[in-house]
Amino acid sequence: MKGNRIIGTGMGLPARVVTNEDIAKIVDTTDEWITSRTGIKERRIAEDHETTSDFGATAAKNAMEMARIGPEEIDLIIVATLSPDRLLPSTSCLVQGKIGAKNAACFDLEAACSGFVYGLAVANGMMPDMGVKTALIIGAETLSRVLDWTDRNTCVLFADGAGAAILRHDGNRDRGILSTYLKADGSAPPPWLTVEPGVADLNPLGDYGSKDFAIRMVGKEVFKFGVRALPDAVNGALGRTDGVSLEDVKLIIPHQANLRIIDAAAKSLDIPKERFFINLQKYGNTSAGTIPIALDDANRQGLIEKGDIIAMAGFGAGLTWAGTIVRW
Ligand code: ACO
Repeated sequence: MKGNRIIGTGMGLPARVVTNEDIAKIVDTTDEWITSRTGIKERRIAEDHETTSDFGATAAKNAMEMARIGPEEIDLIIVATLSPDRLLPSTSCLVQGKIGAKNAACFDLEAACSGFVYGLAVANGMMPDMGVKTALIIGAETLSRVLDWTDRNTCVLFADGAGAAILRHDGNRDRGILSTYLKADGSAPPPWLTVEPGVADLNPLGDYGSKDFAIRMVGKEVFKFGVRALPDAVNGALGRTDGVSLEDVKLIIPHQANLRIIDAAAKSLDIPKERFFINLQKYGNTSAGTIPIALDDANRQGLIEKGDIIAMAGFGAGLTWAGTIVRW
């Protein structure tokens, strides 16, 4: 326990709502199929001019407003994303420019849907020892730009948006991040979850613009992995606390990929599903965005109060999975 506490949360979403019925006009699917297999009813999709850094900057401004801090107070910005505005510069630098956080160090972090929890853990590790007192951690995506809109296996699942949290070192060791647990398995065969083509596939002489990026996924394998990874992320993070048990955790904020994965995790942990906060029906899977968006949603609904213990748990491509336990 280092005395690093979340003092503000925020989200930034595209205004455009795309329902399952809208998607059924694009690919051969139905609202019934998407709802029963995933729980998703609608999602937000960016307009042509909107980017990951736009959503990240809006989420950051909302989090700063809640935390009642100005942008100059931020020492560090980490943006977790798999859909950066561009390869260079980093999306965190673009967010920095948009919010005027001129004193911040900035870098991006890629751990797919585990990215926000990875980001919290990295910031927690840097505070206060590396001169960081206030950190802004963002999970932000524009996944609509890396989807094959003719592939019904993927385009019904993913969406756009960002969430953010302000982490501040206040030295109060009764509250804040109690533990973090980060895992990865780069040996997972075959490419269960990738964006194709990769930079490695591009012609060095420059046909960069001629290939469309698209998420490719072996849904069944990712499903089985998620069912294992989510409970392990929660239990692993609990195991790194000073004796916090699952019964002490008021709310679990999981990666919002699929309602059936959350159902299975609840069974595996032997707790009621009501202990999980779920908002995937409204926003779909925004990868690194889901956990901070859900955190802000739960926070603004008044579901997290001072002293409450919450868990956040993510899993995704890499494979990666990660958990954290926080006393609010
Ligand atoms: N609409 C209608 N039918 C569909 C659709 C669709 N959108 N997508 C697939 N189908 C069909 C398939 O073609 C298949 O038909 P067939 O039996 O004639 O071949 C049938 O539905 C069943 O397909 P399955 O893949 O067996 O369906 P499943 O029950 O496994 O559900 C799903 C698919 C929802 C993708 C599920 O596997 C899943 O959620 N996997 C996890 C995905 C996930 O969480 N990914 C994100 C990870 S996080 C990250 O890092 C980004």
